[in-house]
Amino acid sequence: MHGQSSGAHEADERQRGSLVSVILRDMTRADLPAVLAMEEELFAPDTWTAAMYRDELHRTDSRHYLVAVDEAGALIGYAGLIAYPEEAHIATIGVTATAQGQGVGARLLDTLLAEADTRSQVVLLEVRADNEVAQGLYRRRGFTEIGRRRGYYQPSNTDAVVMSREVRR
Ligand SMILES: CC(C)(COP(=O)(O)OP(=O)(O)OC[C@H]1O[C@@H](n2cnc3c(N)ncnc32)[C@H](O)[C@@H]1OP(=O)(O)O)[C@@H](O)C(=O)NCCC(=O)NCCS
Repeated sequence: MHGQSSGAHEADERQRGSLVSVILRDMTRADLPAVLAMEEELFAPDTWTAAMYRDELHRTDSRHYLVAVDEAGALIGYAGLIAYPEEAHIATIGVTATAQGQGVGARLLDTLLAEADTRSQVVLLEVRADNEVAQGLYRRRGFTEIGRRRGYYQPSNTDAVVMSREVRR
């Protein structure tokens, strides 16, 4: 399932002039330096640490972390799912600024949602209250707002919108 995309999806991406040769694969510990650099780029000051990622990658039964890699092998995006039978959670998703807007984030999210659909009953996520691009991406995939968490992102103390989507089987 990883790295695959439908013919229609690829044609769609070509029309938008996007990165058709990007592949998705499982994240490994060897990816962490590049992942942490992207954490700084995208999420500072609310970044995850190397220890947090190592712990996540260790929990192979319930975690599913992907990276997106360009034709030169450079990491341009990543995303992670925490999936238990009753509930799954999109833990993180990010695409480096120079590769944004070309369908990579959508591919990462769709791959994780397909995985969640086989494992869980409902998918939850938090998104920064001021992040309209990400909220739009989630709404178009069936997520709806179910609440807010004040000061969820630390240390910036930014509020989160909590969104939920029933799985599809
Ligand atoms: C949010 C993010 C992961 C999306 O990844 P991306 O590769 O840029 O997104 P895509 O090109 O796949 O586009 C996803 C959707 O957003 C829309 N979109 C992308 N950039 C946009 C922009 N600047 N303004 C409006 N819509 C935009 C696309 O049209 C697309 O719509 P669709 O769902 O109908 O196809 C990426 O922008 C990012 O890493 N942002 C910074 C980190 C972040 O906010 N992460 C999410 C935390 S919850």
